[in-house]
Amino acid sequence: MAATRTFSIIKPDATRRNLTGAVTKMLEEAGLRVVASRRIQMTKDQAEGFYGVHRERPFFNDLVSFMTSGPVVVQVLEGEDAVKRNRDVMGATNPADAAEGTIRKAFAESIEANSVHGSDSDENAKIEIDFFFKPEEIVG
Ligand code: CMP
Repeated sequence: MAATRTFSIIKPDATRRNLTGAVTKMLEEAGLRVVASRRIQMTKDQAEGFYGVHRERPFFNDLVSFMTSGPVVVQVLEGEDAVKRNRDVMGATNPADAAEGTIRKAFAESIEANSVHGSDSDENAKIEIDFFFKPEEIVG
């Protein structure tokens, strides 16, 4: 099967605890290659736009303030079946439900401060990659 791409965010709870390298190591060990990476301070507008599908959810405002509370690392990951591979190594959204060996089991603090985001489909991966990266910034 050909390599595909997905989008990942290392969230503020992880950057605050200096876990960027530790999280990336787990992604790499899962067979994913970082083909673009940038550390940014997300603006309120960016966070609201990125998480637009969750606008009506009760946790939306808290999610936006959390995602703008410190630096994040936005990444494009490449690998065989990248979306699923990434979601498998991330683990369940709620760390209480996350399996052993996953990033969220190892590092997440709560359902909100859950250390990583990953696209949930190939379609959304493309939308999310395009939200943060120009094609020439991705070098596979
Ligand atoms: P993420 O994959 O970044 O997409 C939406 C995020 O909302 C999700 O991860 C969670 O971190 C966050 N979130 C906060 N509260 C909740 C909740 N009650 N249910 C689901 N997601 C939540």
